[in-house]
Amino acid sequence: MTVLRSYAIWNNKGGVGKSTIAFHLASRYAEAHPDVNVLVIDLCPQANSSMMLLGGGTAGEQHVLDLCTEATPKTVVGYLSTVIAGGAGAPLPNPWRYVVGANDYNKLMPDNVFLLCGDGNLEPMAPAISAAAAAPALTPTIQPWKWIHQIFANLIDKIAEAKDEEWMVFIDTNPSFSIYTELAVSAAQRLITPVNADDSSRVATNAMFILLHGQTPPHPIYGTWTYAAQAQKHGLTVPAIHVIVGNRLTQYDGAATAFKSLSDATADTLFAAYSTHPAYFTIRAAKPKTLAAFRDAYAVALRDFNTAGVVSAHLGRPLSAMDQGYYDVHGQQVKVNADRVQECVEALDTLLASID
Ligand SMILES: Nc1ncnc2c1ncn2[C@@H]1O[C@H](COP(=O)(O)OP(=O)(O)OP(=O)(O)O)[C@@H](O)[C@H]1O
Ligand SMILES: [Mg+2]
Repeated sequence: MTVLRSYAIWNNKGGVGKSTIAFHLASRYAEAHPDVNVLVIDLCPQANSSMMLLGGGTAGEQHVLDLCTEATPKTVVGYLSTVIAGGAGAPLPNPWRYVVGANDYNKLMPDNVFLLCGDGNLEPMAPAISAAAAAPALTPTIQPWKWIHQIFANLIDKIAEAKDEEWMVFIDTNPSFSIYTELAVSAAQRLITPVNADDSSRVATNAMFILLHGQTPPHPIYGTWTYAAQAQKHGLTVPAIHVIVGNRLTQYDGAATAFKSLSDATADTLFAAYSTHPAYFTIRAAKPKTLAAFRDAYAVALRDFNTAGVVSAHLGRPLSAMDQGYYDVHGQQVKVNADRVQECVEALDTLLASID
C-alpha cells in the first residue's frame, strides 16, 4: 500500500562497505520494524549482499547460483529480461515470480526480509539494457530511456500496491556508474553513501555529484549523453544523499572512542558541495551552516566490525544472532566476543536512527 522509503547505497568507489551495510541495514531494520516488509534489490553483478542474506559463505553462494540458473532466473536479470522482452507498455510481470523470502533460504533472517537477488549476468546483459534505453522514441508517450530507467521504481510500486503492507527498500549497487547502477539510482528516493577515510573516497564523492547532477559547464560532447542530462530531460528526480556513512574509520586511528564520523578532507569536500548545492542532500529541519553542524546532520560513523563482522557476513548471520563463542570460518575456529557484537549493534542502531 505505502512505500515508506527507498534507499540506494552507493558511492562511485569500490570496497567502501556498500554490500555489508546493505546486509546489516536490511536485517536490523527488519528486526526493529517487524510490521514493515524490507525489500533488498541487489543491482550489483557481484551479488555480495544477496550471498550474505541467503546464508553467507558457500551456502549463500550456492543459493545465488541456483536462483541465477533457474529457467527464468529469480534475480534482477530474470526480471529485467522479462520486462525488456515484453516491451514498453506491456503489463508488468508478477514480482513474486522473481522476489524471494530471505528466511526461506536463511533461517536466521527475519521473515519480513525479501530479496530480488543479484546476478552475475547483469554484466553481459548491460549492453542490451543500454541499447533498449537508447532506442528512438517511436511514439510520443513511450520514451525508451525513461521506461528503462524506471523499471525498478515501477517494480517497487507494483510490490507495494499488491499488498496491504508497508515497505522499506534498500538497493545495493556496483561502484561503477554502469547502466544497472543508473537503474539502481533511478529507483531510489534517497542515497546512503559510505565513505572511508582515504583520499580516493573523497575524490569519489566529487565524481558522484558530477555523475548524478552533471558538470558546470557541461562537457561540449559528452554533456548531452550523460545520465544527469537525460534524467533532467525526462523529468526523473535524482535521489539526494540522506546520510554519509563514515565506514571503518576506526581502523585508521586505532582508538575505539576517538573517531570522527568523517575524515576532515572528505567532510570539507562534502560540505563545499552542500554549501553550493544544498539540493544534492535531503532537507534537515535546521540547515547546517558550519562544517561541524554539517557533520552532525549528515554523517554517521560505523565502527570497524572486526571479527564479529567477518563472522556475521561469512555466515549470513544478523548481528543479533551472533552469540558469544567460537564459529567455523573456512575451517578455522574464530572467537566472537559478546561485548564487541554489542558495540557493532549499537553502531548500526545509530545509523538506523537516521533512516526514516
Ligand atoms: N564496518 C566494517 N567493519 C569491518 N569490515 C567491513 C566493514 N564494512 C565493510 N567491511 C569489509 O570490507 C570489505 C568490503 O566491503 P563490501 O564488500 O561491503 O564493500 P562494497 O562497497 O560493497 O564493495 P564493492 O564496491 O566491491 O561492491 C569486505 O571484506 C567487508 O567485510
Ligand atoms: Mg558490494
